[in-house]
Amino acid sequence: MCGIVGYIGKEQAAPIILDGLAKLEYRGYDSAGMAIAGEDHQINYKKAVGRLKVLEELTHGGETMPGTAGIGHTRWATHGAPSDVNSHPHFNKEKTIAVVHNGIIENYIYLRDYLMKKGYEFISQTDTEVLAHMLDYYYKGNPLEAITKVMHRVEGSYALGVLFADQPDQLFAVRKDSPLIVGQNEDGCFIASDVPAILKYTRKVYFVENQEVVRLREDHMHFYTIDEEEIHKEPTLIDWDANAAEKCGYEHFMLKEMYEQPKAIKETLMPQNNPRIRGDEITIEELDMTDDELRAIKKLHIVACGSAYHAGVTGKYVIEGLARVSVEVDLASEFRYRNPILEEGSMVIVISQSGETADTLAALRESKARGFKVLGIVNVVGSSIAREADKVMYTWAGPEIAVATTKAYSAQLIALYLLAMKLARVNNTVTKEEYQKLLCDIKLLPDQVELLLNNKNHIQKFANRYIGAKDVFFIGRGIDYAISLEGSLKLKEISYIHSEAYAAGELKHGTISLIEDKTLVAAVSTQEALYQKTISNMLELKARGAFVLAVTNEDNKAIEKEADYVIYIPKTNAYFTNSLAIIPLQLFSYYVSLGKGCDVDKPRNLAKSVTVE
Ligand code: AGP
Repeated sequence: MCGIVGYIGKEQAAPIILDGLAKLEYRGYDSAGMAIAGEDHQINYKKAVGRLKVLEELTHGGETMPGTAGIGHTRWATHGAPSDVNSHPHFNKEKTIAVVHNGIIENYIYLRDYLMKKGYEFISQTDTEVLAHMLDYYYKGNPLEAITKVMHRVEGSYALGVLFADQPDQLFAVRKDSPLIVGQNEDGCFIASDVPAILKYTRKVYFVENQEVVRLREDHMHFYTIDEEEIHKEPTLIDWDANAAEKCGYEHFMLKEMYEQPKAIKETLMPQNNPRIRGDEITIEELDMTDDELRAIKKLHIVACGSAYHAGVTGKYVIEGLARVSVEVDLASEFRYRNPILEEGSMVIVISQSGETADTLAALRESKARGFKVLGIVNVVGSSIAREADKVMYTWAGPEIAVATTKAYSAQLIALYLLAMKLARVNNTVTKEEYQKLLCDIKLLPDQVELLLNNKNHIQKFANRYIGAKDVFFIGRGIDYAISLEGSLKLKEISYIHSEAYAAGELKHGTISLIEDKTLVAAVSTQEALYQKTISNMLELKARGAFVLAVTNEDNKAIEKEADYVIYIPKTNAYFTNSLAIIPLQLFSYYVSLGKGCDVDKPRNLAKSVTVE
């Protein structure tokens, strides 16, 4: 959950590092720092608590730190509060070794005690400082040897940039579990936690694998294993357009990405080089499974975190409803430790936008260790989950920068709908007519999402009434409960307003005691068979003073008698309503956050990719 950038080449390093860190601030932004190889084997460094702009001002955009080799870091605190001393880079006592780190050193307390007994002194509360002193402990003039010795002692996750003062002509990158790439152009070589940091300089990147070490020099790189064996790696050519990682005139990345949802849905339905709807059939070539193999799937375990988990909850309703295949949905952080029961005929599906979420990656590894196939539904091409899953079904939403996911979540829903329809087809659980209708309805979703996005003004007005809200509840039944989970998280994570999502039928079993006069309750009601039930729940809430916002189908006019405010969504297949109902809920959260003056794209305490436990 931190961002790392390094550069060594013909150009001045500091401005390149600052520019790269700015592209990674979404990964963590409570402090930042930089170390540059200076003259006469000195390392110059600056680090400070606060956003990256503090470091930029401190170094006049890098001008006060001349040099052509350096490393930088933007932090999301894990061990030790955000402070100057806890900011990265961290150093050995003589300041001849600098380290920036993304991840968690799980045995740092043991290693710190070990080093303190050897006379080492610690000045920060971080786990990372242990690495700097361990490197010092093993360094006898051979950086690779020192690094690999430390790798054998350290437990946990790490993506590192390392600079040795007496080796100013080289940088080192080291990876275990936390994402790390390196890249090269005609002027130099780069280290980064993620592609956006260096896309401006090069599209030719190498994904560093677990327990690999990279030695970067001005004009070439060498790759090694933890046993110091040199290896060859093939580069990946990144085909994103540079604009994709920019705001393109929108006030926030989140707003831009909300408006990219129609495109994300279209691209996920029909990837340019591999359309998933061909005539009357759905083709998911990435599954690489015959119809018989698909029919043999008796149970699906969907495992994810946060919004990806919420997409999985929707997936359960849709897959069970259409294909009659049993689906169990788990939070990855729970799945990996609850000794799950995986039976023959089961397949695991992990869902992840970043493809780097530690808990989800661990759940994938746990499943594979037990001999079960894992399908990854992933947005970031070449990410750890994409590379370690047995099969990958990409959500072609493009780079998502805002911490609060929108377009990737919508694309995840599409991937799950396609999977459900494919399974329903091979299991013959839907008639030919129903199948045709599903195909027709799913193709209409991009335009219907566009319609809702363009009709945002009344939602913006309504949102402005709730900038001061203290508690907001989201309720729904069946598939509407799944979207309530996501609507509630969106509001919480970007506006800092407490919110809860509840199965509408469950509210009266305790939580209804929290309803006070004018408490806002968003009731999602898109399932015709449950309309009346949800209205009953709405009346229970209104009887206790709640203000009820209804999100419902455009033909459900009867609800106007019961709800205090109604937002209509276009009519679509009952299984696809989440793709539409989420749009007004996203917009509502966005405008409440905006009205409160929150940092919509980089909310407090959060990071885009949770690469630690
Ligand atoms: C969603 O808005 C949040 N940013 C968060 O819940 C996120 O969905 C979760 O951390 C999972 O991330 P992933 O999809 O990259 O694995």
